[in-house]
Amino acid sequence: MNIEIPNLTAFDEAALDSAFAQLERQARAAAAALDGEAAVDGFKLQWLGRKQGLLNEISGRWLKAAPVEAKKLLGVRFNALKAVVEALLDEALGAGPTDAALARETIDITLPGTRRLMGAEHPITRTLNEIVGVFAALGYSVGVGPEVETDYYNFESMNFPPGHPARDTQDTLVVAGQERRPQRDRLLMRTHTSPVQMRTMESQPPPVRIVIPGKVHRNDAADATHSPIFHQVEGLCVDTNITFSDLKGTLDHAMKALFGSAVKTRFFPSFFPFTEPSADVQISCIFCGGKGCRKCKNSGWIELLGCGMVDPAVFAFAAEKQPGYDPKKISGFAFGMGVERIAMMKYGISEIGSLFAGDMRFLGQFA
Ligand code: DAH
Repeated sequence: MNIEIPNLTAFDEAALDSAFAQLERQARAAAAALDGEAAVDGFKLQWLGRKQGLLNEISGRWLKAAPVEAKKLLGVRFNALKAVVEALLDEALGAGPTDAALARETIDITLPGTRRLMGAEHPITRTLNEIVGVFAALGYSVGVGPEVETDYYNFESMNFPPGHPARDTQDTLVVAGQERRPQRDRLLMRTHTSPVQMRTMESQPPPVRIVIPGKVHRNDAADATHSPIFHQVEGLCVDTNITFSDLKGTLDHAMKALFGSAVKTRFFPSFFPFTEPSADVQISCIFCGGKGCRKCKNSGWIELLGCGMVDPAVFAFAAEKQPGYDPKKISGFAFGMGVERIAMMKYGISEIGSLFAGDMRFLGQFA
């Protein structure tokens, strides 16, 4: 806005009052018309600018010309005008957008915003962490291994010799084009997390206490309880004088920690090539408390994991790289459990596929 600085010809109080009043009117009118940040900045520069600001010019033009006896009268009025301008500026800075600015606004700030969904742990991850947490609290460390594994680690070193019928129980998915390699070097998708037992023992001498969570693959047809990709948590404990009662006590504690202190466990004879003796662990049915229901097929028990004392033949493979695993000097136990199965029981999920379908309506229930 163009501001006119009147010419001062007389310096009596009446003349000064009228000249300053004219300036103040112009300042107020200019401030009232301010619209937007840029305009407020312009106002500030126009009035208060150090070199070319109007106040600076007024003081230059009027104060210099004023006779000595009028300087004080002029100075008082000048300071009053400056205070008014500063107050107008403060007001303009704090006022926010004017109605005119709002009318030009093209974004409708009254529209609902884009909602950002809260992330949540997948139920498999959550269960996996919970299982690992139970063992971490017992002093177990946590390890991982590769999903593409060699025949040696997945089978041979776990005491499945080539051609052994137990290999057939694992429905292995193999990597194509490996025929020219020696059998032990052929790559496959690991069918269980047990090969990480051997990788762990090869990399560190006993004692070992470790849990290994991870993904495993099998050429299984998908149905309500099977998926070709699923997760396991493997456990391995090796030291001097580790006994079957250590195994029982550890897993009984773990099952109570996972499913509640009322849960009972029992150990059933079983077979795994890498443990001897081997057992299947059953827990009392968490749905009926052991009375018998549809979920436990009226037996009162649910089979949950495999375990056993590490077979001396497995220690012999480990001892090739770490002589400390001499089966005459140390002993140990191992266990392996399916994470999906445990998650399904804990959260009452009836179809394993819903854990992998990525349907937000399902996953959102775990947020
Ligand atoms: N690897 C076995 C499987 O996938 C599970 C298992 C059983 C792991 C007994 C163990 C064990 O460490 O001792 O079926």
